[in-house]
Amino acid sequence: MKRGIDMKNVKILKGDLVYALSKDNVMFIKDGYLVIKEHIIEGAYKDLPSEYVNEEIEDYTGRIIMPGMIDLHVHASQYSFRGMGMDLELLDWLNTYTFKEESKYNSLDYANKAYEIYVEDLVKSTTTRACIFGTIHKEATLRLMEMLDKTGLKTMVGKVNMDRESPDYYIEHSADDSVKETIEFIKETSRFENTKPIITPRFVPSCTDELMEKLSRVREEHNLSVQSHLSENKKEIEWVKELNRKAHSYGEAYDMFGLFGGDYKAIMAHCVYSDDEELRRMKKNNVYVAHCPDSNVNLASGIAPIRKFLKYGVNVGLGSDVAAGYSISMFKAMVDALQVSKLYWRLVDNSVSPLSINEVFYLATLGGGSFFGNVGTFKKGYEADVIVMDDTSIKCPYDLTLEERLERLIYLSNDDNMVAKYVAGCKVYDALGNVDENRSEEKEIILV
Ligand code: GUN
Ligand code: FE
Repeated sequence: MKRGIDMKNVKILKGDLVYALSKDNVMFIKDGYLVIKEHIIEGAYKDLPSEYVNEEIEDYTGRIIMPGMIDLHVHASQYSFRGMGMDLELLDWLNTYTFKEESKYNSLDYANKAYEIYVEDLVKSTTTRACIFGTIHKEATLRLMEMLDKTGLKTMVGKVNMDRESPDYYIEHSADDSVKETIEFIKETSRFENTKPIITPRFVPSCTDELMEKLSRVREEHNLSVQSHLSENKKEIEWVKELNRKAHSYGEAYDMFGLFGGDYKAIMAHCVYSDDEELRRMKKNNVYVAHCPDSNVNLASGIAPIRKFLKYGVNVGLGSDVAAGYSISMFKAMVDALQVSKLYWRLVDNSVSPLSINEVFYLATLGGGSFFGNVGTFKKGYEADVIVMDDTSIKCPYDLTLEERLERLIYLSNDDNMVAKYVAGCKVYDALGNVDENRSEEKEIILV
């Protein structure tokens, strides 16, 4: 007797389970079972509960099954120049390389070509969810969302807003223009299932007070989240002080317009120089920090003291911040977060101890995942975002514990070690080329 469970909608994955319940508590279950029901985690078990013993099992014995990685901050429109032009600091980098590249997305032909490359690589990566910047162009950003929607990955994507302090060839001509395009953009995204819009003022210097005020109203009317940049670079912070004299901190320059979380979610990338006042404001407003260590090194921005943020109780996840970061791999982001935390401790403040393996694993999964709701762990009731990692090719002459295998995997693997990826219970990538039959027919899935 199957006690009324509809087994058609049950998936059972067998393998070595690793998932974070909090930053201090990572679970390791060798030869365990992950039961997924209706796209939701039913449970992670050492022994398969008796009601499931006659069901078919997807057997990943010897491989590591973990929650999908969350990229809380990435610029899809900059993927084209990843690995190039990192010889400048933020403001010069924007003016020399970034705005020029982003202006090309005025052409849909270019957007098609460039975004296809990003989306294909994202499918093959270990990322299951991402918060993504497009460009100021509505059509190109919708094209990106169309591509993303078909993959089954869950994403939030922003048409970028910029109406001041930007070059003539890459600026919106008024706050009203910017807002009008944004409202049209939001309306057109209603056709998408997996990708949703997010309000995206680029950063304070590129948005007038009028634009900020109006964007805040649009945000409220459509009940959307916000993503932007905060306290990344010292010159940038000085510039914000000059431009917004009424704000006592960079964070306040968003908050005074209602664009800094509170009763809705907001992500702020970087926060390298956030002081105690800004941290208190982030904590109070439930703002998420997207920690982007690769980018902060490449643009010589500095090191964000993540241990301090965690102590304050501020939400933190990881971001690749391509193309200031050169890779979309969140495995690389975990290593970078570990390494820069050691340098901060050694060189900046010896009271801020380095992050641990378990902590960076938490940041890359549950830390960022909670931005999307119940995402990022294998607790009952969470959405089943899962990656299966094969570490058998990373040879070792002695037996390793599962804890050691996680550590090695973080340092030594890359996204090519991924065997399969599931988002909300649907298989969206399989190294062998199989995907879920129950995904809708017209959805062409991008595979290797
Ligand atoms: N601040 C404003 N725009 C950007 C951007 O594109 N990348 C980074 N790293 N910081 C920014
Ligand atoms: Fe960024």
